[in-house]
Amino acid sequence: MSHDLVSPIRLVVLISGNGSNLQAIIDDITNNNLPAKIVAVISNKADAYGLERAKKAGIEQRVLSHKDFSNRNQYDLALKELIDGYQPDLIILAGFMRILSNEFVEHYLHKMMNIHPSLLPKYKGLNTHQRALDAGDKEHGCSVHFVTPELDDGPVILQATVEIKENDTAESLAARVHEQEHRIYPQAIRMFAEKK
Ligand code: GAR
Repeated sequence: MSHDLVSPIRLVVLISGNGSNLQAIIDDITNNNLPAKIVAVISNKADAYGLERAKKAGIEQRVLSHKDFSNRNQYDLALKELIDGYQPDLIILAGFMRILSNEFVEHYLHKMMNIHPSLLPKYKGLNTHQRALDAGDKEHGCSVHFVTPELDDGPVILQATVEIKENDTAESLAARVHEQEHRIYPQAIRMFAEKK
């Protein structure tokens, strides 16, 4: 479906690594499925592969290393200034592996989304795939949610469920969850853009 009549929203995407979710968002925009424009990709790590993806797509890339700051508040203040310079409508956390200060989160309340590899409220934090396997769960998945000060918390926008198979490993499960992430993250952004 074409979105020519909806004016694109401005996204700033924050990453720390591979950026496959970033890629899914880029692809959806390119295919005219998402009325959005990524105005900058910001990474806290200079070697994040997602920066290459942004470069290839002609998107501005910025690195703000947490190592250059003595504490979290100072880093978050600099990050906020960097982000706000791009005047985004929505901030997208796409594998941005940092805990954010309350002040930072509150500045972007209802304007910042995260994707987390579990069916929240289950398995906040790290190693979610292994934890789901260890618990003997029958299903697992991913959640897109608005970010609130509590880690991996906040109102869920969309979730996708993946069946856990008997011979699954954390890697095989992660691969299937990733496929779902790439489907629901652009969809959640589209809902925001269309004000649903
Ligand atoms: C994704 O699986 C995302 O759900 C997870 O990091 C990965 C990033 O992959 N995020 C978190 O765990 C946040 N708590 P990507 O860099 O390929 O998009």
